[in-house]
Amino acid sequence: MIELIRQVPDQIEGSFKLEIPAIEPKRGRIYICGMGGSAASGDIIKALAPETPIEVVRDYSLPAFLGPEDAVIAVSYSGNTEETLSAYSEAVKKGAAALVIASGGKLLEAAKRDGVPCIVIPGGLPPRCALGWLMSPLLLALARAGMIPSGLEEDLGSAPDFLRAQMLSLEGPDSPTLDLANKFYSRLPFIYASSRFYPVAFRWCAQINENAKSIAHPAALPEMDHNEVSGIVNPKAFVSEVWAVFLRFPEDYERTSARADITAELIRDSVMGITHLRPEGACTLHRVLWTLVFGDLVSYYLALAYKEDPFAIPRIDVLKERLGKL
Ligand code: F6R
Repeated sequence: MIELIRQVPDQIEGSFKLEIPAIEPKRGRIYICGMGGSAASGDIIKALAPETPIEVVRDYSLPAFLGPEDAVIAVSYSGNTEETLSAYSEAVKKGAAALVIASGGKLLEAAKRDGVPCIVIPGGLPPRCALGWLMSPLLLALARAGMIPSGLEEDLGSAPDFLRAQMLSLEGPDSPTLDLANKFYSRLPFIYASSRFYPVAFRWCAQINENAKSIAHPAALPEMDHNEVSGIVNPKAFVSEVWAVFLRFPEDYERTSARADITAELIRDSVMGITHLRPEGACTLHRVLWTLVFGDLVSYYLALAYKEDPFAIPRIDVLKERLGKL
């Protein structure tokens, strides 16, 4: 799996060579439908373009108030995820579907049948290892349609070199990712971020779940200061095993950042340990990608520590198989 994490820069570079259909700019909201690793691509675009009304739909149904002035983008790496297929069908019925991103499967077949523009990405990877293939074409299509800031395309273009240079210090025996994985081992990873970057915390947890077969818990500031901060006390045997990570983006609202400092002080004596992680990178996109790759590597090293196969996701496979028979 580490080879696939190293391939993120190649995936981003490869996306610039894909055929990106011109999509009709819409005035309303952008609904990005997908699940798991595919939905993560939508989350990231939303975090990168906070001025754009983007909703990520992780469900069978689209919001009832969606209209023809809105855009719907269905993203499924396999093209066979039933929730995404259902949301896509609803979009077509409403006359709102704008774009499909998939490596194949029923979604691509349906898009071709319906005359919906699609971006065909290379297949054969676990979807969670295809983030570069999933998020880059989405970003390019939206930036070129003028629906998100065009500067993001430039930042994406410089991301592969930045990530390749960073990768050297991010992995290996003396790396901060291995160090954090060791801190998480046999403990409970809690990942905190500001609301804007909560999707990054969520993705960390999803990667820890799927790759390392470990539980992990994400939460967002400032909301957690109004509830969760009180709960980090009991059960004591559980809370004393928590290792909390605060993802500290320089973009965070000043008072949210102050909250992270105070919250960490308040919970310090209850939990096993705390790490404040400050992302590297000259722009938001680079910082987000750096943090995602950091989390991927932590989840990989944690899988090794638990002696788990990072590729195997038997419960997710069984769920899909059993639901497929219903
Ligand atoms: C598997 C993974 C999952 C899938 C999800 C949806 O590697 O990350 O979270 O992404 O089950 O499947 P796709 O992405 O094929 O629509």
